[in-house]
Amino acid sequence: MTDRSAGLSEIDATVAHPARRYNYWLGGKDHYAADRESGDQLERMFPKVRLGALANRALLRRATRFLAAEAGIRQFLDIGTGLPTADNTHEVAQSVAPESRVVYVDNDPMVMVHARALLTSSPEGRTSYIEADLNDPGAILADRTTRETLDFDQPIALMLIAVLHFIRGNGAAQPIVRELLEALPAGSFLVATHATSDFGTPEQQRLYQQLMDERKTDVWTRPRDEFAELFDGLELVAPGVVPASEWRPEPGAEIPERSDINVWTAVGRKL
Ligand SMILES: C[S@@+](CC[C@H](N)C(=O)[O-])C[C@H]1O[C@@H](n2cnc3c(N)ncnc32)[C@H](O)[C@@H]1O
Repeated sequence: MTDRSAGLSEIDATVAHPARRYNYWLGGKDHYAADRESGDQLERMFPKVRLGALANRALLRRATRFLAAEAGIRQFLDIGTGLPTADNTHEVAQSVAPESRVVYVDNDPMVMVHARALLTSSPEGRTSYIEADLNDPGAILADRTTRETLDFDQPIALMLIAVLHFIRGNGAAQPIVRELLEALPAGSFLVATHATSDFGTPEQQRLYQQLMDERKTDVWTRPRDEFAELFDGLELVAPGVVPASEWRPEPGAEIPERSDINVWTAVGRKL
């Protein structure tokens, strides 16, 4: 079953959007000139940024499979959905447990248009879409579609995959994550990935900090400690806080250099 709630805003092709830029890096077709320019600019600073995007997407797949197959999770709140591509959250979860239910949340109207067309559920499960902003967690939690799709008395996996770095400012992500987690029952999970400058040279770190301070990038990188604090009070699932490519890699997978990935990952369980 699939729910389609109405989109609220218009698509603006003249301003780079994270979802379309990520789609460009992943080799998709849904991007405009502004997205490609912004993607190329970041790629000049981080030449392996596409490798990081692929590693992040592969992590989404492995973590979702872990949650469905090993942790018994059947409900997912996936904020920062991105444009549909291979192995979307509900596809991975429903391949393990067809009754899985997913609420997709994104603030990009183009994501919503594609999601409604392509992210269709198994008959036993359910997918819903809401256009909403992570900066307003209360609205996501109170949304009628969220409440109709997910049972807040049963564990829910909160998926914040490559989205928290669009929340600008030191310490700005933590209150948002806390408010979302407070609404979830014990046994729920947080999965997060986050861009970082930790593996850059001091000179690269200085240059990137300058870009952030001057608002010349929309990706607000965070250091390991600030990322790890998002999991305060949760039980971290092994191997803990690691680069995306090092979180439960497929057996035999080649592990890239950390400085090629630049994405922290962790999975935690609410006690
Ligand atoms: C890099 S993509 C990640 C997609 C997917 N989670 C993944 O990891 O493959 C980031 C997504 O977050 C969305 N996004 C960015 N800021 C957001 C916000 N404040 N609220 C909701 N969604 C946001 C973008 O529109 C985009 O679809």
